Amino acid sequence: MLVTVLGASGRTGRLLTRQLVYAGHEVRALTRHHDAAGLSGVGTTVIRGDASNEDDLRRVLKGAQAVVSVLGAQYSREQVRTYSGTARAITAVLGADGPARLVVTSSAILSAWRDPTMTWTERLVLTRAVERVGATLYDDMRRMEDIVATSGLDWTVMRPLGLTDMDASTRWAVAEDHIPGRSTSRRDLAAAIVDQLSRTDFVRKTAAVATTNESVGIAATIWREAVRPRLRRSPAPPARAPRGGAGSPR
Ligand SMILES: NC(=O)c1ccc[n+]([C@@H]2O[C@H](COP(=O)([O-])OP(=O)(O)OC[C@H]3O[C@@H](n4cnc5c(N)ncnc54)[C@H](OP(=O)(O)O)[C@@H]3O)[C@@H](O)[C@H]2O)c1
Repeated sequence: MLVTVLGASGRTGRLLTRQLVYAGHEVRALTRHHDAAGLSGVGTTVIRGDASNEDDLRRVLKGAQAVVSVLGAQYSREQVRTYSGTARAITAVLGADGPARLVVTSSAILSAWRDPTMTWTERLVLTRAVERVGATLYDDMRRMEDIVATSGLDWTVMRPLGLTDMDASTRWAVAEDHIPGRSTSRRDLAAAIVDQLSRTDFVRKTAAVATTNESVGIAATIWREAVRPRLRRSPAPPARAPRGGAGSPR
């Protein structure tokens, strides 16, 4: 089947594109980058564009039989609009002229369910992460879920646990609404999305996906995925004038 991948140049997007081709699909990949290094190849056509732009979406969706999205935004104190903005554009274009099958990616944090095997410290770390580091991002994921759920399309919302890169070969499981565990490897999320294209039992449902045989602690995931990238993006403090040099206060 011809599958459009949105967010194709991201970390999950690249794995997903490759796995779709291995599974025998033809891929049309959308990216905002000029240099889509490593993305194009046998079975994949790369199209440059923005997933919040309806004209770009029309080009990348033309003739597709399914659309899968692993679009993502960075954690930020500012209001995040990536998820809701793209969801509005995608559902508008699909509703008017496109395939009905849509798989989007959200997060397990949006579920009210918490794994009872979590320790008190893990719960506290998770609550702080939701309320402080990720509040604006998760608010926008919730808006995206609402837009998709009321779209009338054949949607599935994927909710991975803490996303990580794992080298070891892993196993994964999917369940409606929530699933026990600590993490989901990006490769497993990609595999679970590919799997959704050949099944209908999660249509108009939320599918929680977890890696079942390996895990990374909640605090380590939050550090790697949320805190460390923010520290890297922080502007360097202004250089101090040398003591006693020109312009220094007397
Ligand atoms: N990190 C976690 O712990 C976690 C947990 C649960 C769920 N998730 C979700 O899982 C999904 C995959 O995560 P990931 O870490 O693999 O993603 P990622 O590496 O951050 O990639 C996200 C991709 O989305 C693209 N994108 C964003 N807005 C776009 C737009 N308007 N048009 C076109 N492309 C756009 C980005 O492109 P640019 O390179 O051009 O910016 C980037 O390539 C995301 O939805 C994420 O929110 C993450």
